Amino acid sequence: MSKNVVIFGSIVQDLISYTERFPRPGESVRGSAFHAGAGGKGANQAVAAARLGANVTMIGMVGKDMFGDSNIESLRQNGVDTSGVGRSQEKHTATATITVNQEAENSIVVTLGANLDLLPEFADKSHSLLANSHLVLCQGEIPEAANRRAFEIARGNGAKTFLNPAPGDAKMDKSILSLTDIVCTNENEAEFITGIPQTTLEDAENAARKMLEMGPQIAIITLGAKGVLLAQTLNSKPDLKLIPVQKVEAIDTTGAGDCFCGSLAALLSLDGNLENVERATRCAAKLAALSVTRRGTQASYWKKGEILEKFPGFFEE
Ligand code: RIB
Ligand code: NA
Repeated sequence: MSKNVVIFGSIVQDLISYTERFPRPGESVRGSAFHAGAGGKGANQAVAAARLGANVTMIGMVGKDMFGDSNIESLRQNGVDTSGVGRSQEKHTATATITVNQEAENSIVVTLGANLDLLPEFADKSHSLLANSHLVLCQGEIPEAANRRAFEIARGNGAKTFLNPAPGDAKMDKSILSLTDIVCTNENEAEFITGIPQTTLEDAENAARKMLEMGPQIAIITLGAKGVLLAQTLNSKPDLKLIPVQKVEAIDTTGAGDCFCGSLAALLSLDGNLENVERATRCAAKLAALSVTRRGTQASYWKKGEILEKFPGFFEE
């Protein structure tokens, strides 16, 4: 049976312009297309997980405004339980002004607004949702003291904790790793956590081993085209595996990391335990690759039915 996944994190209105190249300071460039959609690392992960059929509850904050309404509505339409989403009294719903260039790279200005009201007290208020979940997934777009409180409640009630410290912050409180079961980073975030500069695969392997020493049983580093490094503690020894990723025709890579983490959380919860991590990681990498072939963040995530129609064996391979 699918256990409940709780996403504790950000909700952001994405405003995406597609251009040939990024503007230089003082320059104005023409956009070729525009997409407004629901986003935010937390909500993106919630939708990625729900689209695979997981039972997902979102705990987050929006403002009392139009973007707040539409972002909650979009979560609902994707089957996410929004009973844990609050409304800030004064702050606006967060926005992300995103530019995507022809190389499918992005540059983002995110104004966190209401997400900054997701404080430890709100985690306390959401105690029963957190305590009754199987897995709690947090990111780095809300106050870190709240993430810590959410993990304390999760841990205190037997739920697994999954940390995706994105977007990276060199000053992040690394002590949260001692409350973390699964950590997933990119190379930058791995460097911030471990202090090991990241260039080669060996650097990533050293960082992954170091993260395992800091608390988690599973440490994952996404390495872009080089693949995904999965490190696990097995029989009290670190076990490392590099999982290759397929090459795809990328048109928008925004939110691909969120798709990976949300999908991984869903696959682990659908599995009911954390045993098939390697298979889940492989599958999550394929799902993230699919997401970059479409525009937008949540809008680009594939639904389970859609995948099975186009690629029948996708989840078995
Ligand atoms: O990871 C992508 C997300 O980061 C976007 O949806 C945007 O909202 C930013 O917060
Ligand atoms: Na995309």
